[in-house]
Amino acid sequence: MFLLLTFVLAAASAMGQDLNQECMVMDPSLNKMVYSPLATQCENKNSDLICEMIMGSVNVTTGSSAPRASNCYKGYGEDGKLREYPQIKQDAIAYCPKKCGYCCISSK
Ligand SMILES: *[C@@H]1O[C@H](CO)[C@@H](O)[C@H](O)[C@H]1NC(C)=O
Repeated sequence: MFLLLTFVLAAASAMGQDLNQECMVMDPSLNKMVYSPLATQCENKNSDLICEMIMGSVNVTTGSSAPRASNCYKGYGEDGKLREYPQIKQDAIAYCPKKCGYCCISSK
């Protein structure tokens, strides 16, 4: 698990892409980062319905390269602009890990 995560983070930074690639792996046939099965192998801590209300309808699915719902890691600042907030991401990891595909880094 730890080795896999390290590899994923190293691969992401090596390619100079954004780092919201937790629980993703390179799919050589697509030449894209896709969600690994470990991304969604857990349950949300909040109910699925509450996670859907907070994060919207987009679900992370294994093998998909679609971005996470922006509410999984972004919020509006005081200036009204959408940007990434580590705290929002931590909350998503803690409360809606399945919804956001963060199962590989959420505590069980
Ligand atoms: C996302 O997952 C939830 C909970 O399993 C489900 O109720 C909902 O229909 C799914 N949404 C989409 C767009 O597939």
